[in-house]
Amino acid sequence: MYPVPVAGVRELLVTSGSTMAAVEVARQMSEGARNLSLSGHVGFDSMPDQLVNKSVCQGFCFNILCVGETGLGKSTLMDTLFNTRFEGDPAAHNQPGVHIKSNNYELQESNVRLKLSIVNSVGFGDQINKEESYKSIVEFIDAQFEAYLQEELKIKRTLHNYHDSRIHVCLYFIAPTGHSLKSLDLVTMKKLDSKVNIVPIIAKADSISKNELQKFKIKIMSELVSNGVQIYQFPTDDETVAEINGTMNAHLPFAVVGSTEEIKIGNKMMKARQYPWGTVQVENENHCDFVKLREMLIRVNMEDLREQTHARHYELYRRCKLEEMGFKDTDPDNKPFSLQETYEAKRNEFLGELQKKEEEMRQMFVMRVKEKESELKEAEKELHDKFDRLKKLHQDEKKKLEDKKKSLDDEINAFKQRKTAAELLQSQAQQSGSQQTLKRDKERKNFF
Ligand code: GTP
Ligand code: MG
Repeated sequence: MYPVPVAGVRELLVTSGSTMAAVEVARQMSEGARNLSLSGHVGFDSMPDQLVNKSVCQGFCFNILCVGETGLGKSTLMDTLFNTRFEGDPAAHNQPGVHIKSNNYELQESNVRLKLSIVNSVGFGDQINKEESYKSIVEFIDAQFEAYLQEELKIKRTLHNYHDSRIHVCLYFIAPTGHSLKSLDLVTMKKLDSKVNIVPIIAKADSISKNELQKFKIKIMSELVSNGVQIYQFPTDDETVAEINGTMNAHLPFAVVGSTEEIKIGNKMMKARQYPWGTVQVENENHCDFVKLREMLIRVNMEDLREQTHARHYELYRRCKLEEMGFKDTDPDNKPFSLQETYEAKRNEFLGELQKKEEEMRQMFVMRVKEKESELKEAEKELHDKFDRLKKLHQDEKKKLEDKKKSLDDEINAFKQRKTAAELLQSQAQQSGSQQTLKRDKERKNFF
């Protein structure tokens, strides 16, 4: 209880007239709190009941992400965990990549309503190149954080009835190889560990012997530690659950068996898997850790998982995102940063960058134009040169032709002259020839 009356605070705020003063008053108030004893029942001890009633009325929401190779028993485990049959077809092994499938359900137990989202990584581990397998999972988790952040940043917020899709827990299904973690497991868990509470589980634990299982668990934990993968630790700070949570932390990763088949054992129907050599009872703690998982995940730590998601993982996302946007808590002089100042500084920075970019683009444009201009000039010069060359070639050819024509004309003239002379000679020869014939004819006539 604070002894300072509210009216007093308001007075102080008004007279100080600044946010800084208000912060200082609040600090003094919290530091100066005195313990007083009550002389009668007031009623604020009903606060926990009020909270419970409000929560029951609002209902709860829990979002589970199942990451694991195709066919590892993810859907069966979910059905077993919530004692129902969620619809969902088995995935094919030939997916080109990993994609995320989210299904929402509304469950009710007694008068408590639970909005449950089960998110599946479809096609995980099925590709030859698994380098990018984690990407779509990380993007999905970030997208849910982003949606929440956008809602928080809205002027008109409706966070009280906002459907929170942030992932509260990631059940990471490890194949029961008995050897060690695959590099795909390590890489994926490493990429996810700062974004979500990871609870690793060994799937289909009925296919591995008891001794091998213990060694496998130790191996997995040592590999996680040596690779710096942070998995979710059940909290031990609340003394009501510290003991059980501490014990359960030592059992991680839980080795689980799932089954929706009910078999009569003694006079009780139990979930089990039946084999020619015997029966594995899902809820028998000597057979597997299913009960431990259900206890830890749903009955003891569901609220802590939700809280960690908000206070740790979302907070980290929000901090990085706001820092990226230029928001800080303090300025270089260690004074609180005002939102207005940050906004204006960011706006000015943005406008400055915009101007710089504009100038850069303008210069680039001018440079491009100049480049184009010089290219065109070069091309024009080349064309001129080519034209000149062709023109010269043409003139040379023309001259050559003219010379040839002239020599041909000369030849023709000489030929004509020779022809005329020859014709003359020929006609002279013909004339003298005919005169001689006449003479010979005359002589022959005279003879006869
Ligand atoms: P996809 O959604 O296709 O990736 O598969 P899934 O991981 O959801 O596996 P699903 O639950 O469909 O189970 C695949 C097969 O494994 C089914 O035949 C199940 O009966 C069987 N199965 C599930 N859980 C277990 C288990 O704990 N042990 C054994 N041995 N088999 C199991
Ligand atoms: Mg499935």
